[in-house]
Amino acid sequence: MEAPRINADWTIDQGWERYSAADHAVWKTLFERQTRLLPGRACDEFVHGMHALPIGADRIPDFRRLSDVLMKHTGWQVVAVPGLVPDEVFFEHLANRRFPAGQFIRQAHELDYLEEPDVFHDVFGHVPMLMNPAIADYIQAYGVGGLRAKALGKLAHLARVYWYTVEFGLVQQAGGVRLYGAGIASSFAESVFALDSTSPNRIGFDLARVMRTNYRIDDFQETYFVIRSLDELLELAHIDFGPLYEGLGDGEEYEPGDVLGSDRVIARGDGSYHRGKRASFST
Ligand SMILES: [Fe+2]
Repeated sequence: MEAPRINADWTIDQGWERYSAADHAVWKTLFERQTRLLPGRACDEFVHGMHALPIGADRIPDFRRLSDVLMKHTGWQVVAVPGLVPDEVFFEHLANRRFPAGQFIRQAHELDYLEEPDVFHDVFGHVPMLMNPAIADYIQAYGVGGLRAKALGKLAHLARVYWYTVEFGLVQQAGGVRLYGAGIASSFAESVFALDSTSPNRIGFDLARVMRTNYRIDDFQETYFVIRSLDELLELAHIDFGPLYEGLGDGEEYEPGDVLGSDRVIARGDGSYHRGKRASFST
């Protein structure tokens, strides 16, 4: 396929008509196995968003049709990008309610392997939550905050907030703890691990605590942070992070698996998964 022309804002034409039958078949495989796992695991808002959008098993969704529906509900659009984009470009899109989604899809032999977010992660994982007004405002605020944090040299701290909410967040609901983070929702293995495994910690979300906490990019998380409701994110969207950055100074940093005396622990993990991996690496 001819490489698409990249616009100044890094967007490209999705080129929906150019997806092959094999591309749509990968989507279908991923969609069907993930959809089987999510009842009782995904939060109500995720399920609701998924049902209200033109997202189905048979075809990779067309971003123009997704945007039509999103625009009516929360004023968001989905725009196609070729892969990861520079931070400022990403934030600028979010600040303007445009969600940059990878245009390509992984191949059939790499269903669980992802170097860069593809259309399955970005659309299946993220877009249903953009139908929720709290998430819609929160992610826009993150874009605005990201531009500011970048200018202040505090991006690493802010990125952790995104990671532990938008990507790997859990939420307390009437039926129990549920997932809303796209990194979990789009992962076959992690959507089970995050909720069912005895290994990871599940800790009540605390903004300052999360800003100091490192995360794993190469494996399942050692700790998931649980919000009380999605409205908690809406409150976050209105916080002035400036004074918080000041408070962080060069202070303490926490490792992904640390549990602190001040944590509101919902479930303390036994750490067995990561300990097992460390042991096998050292032998
Ligand atoms: Fe993502």
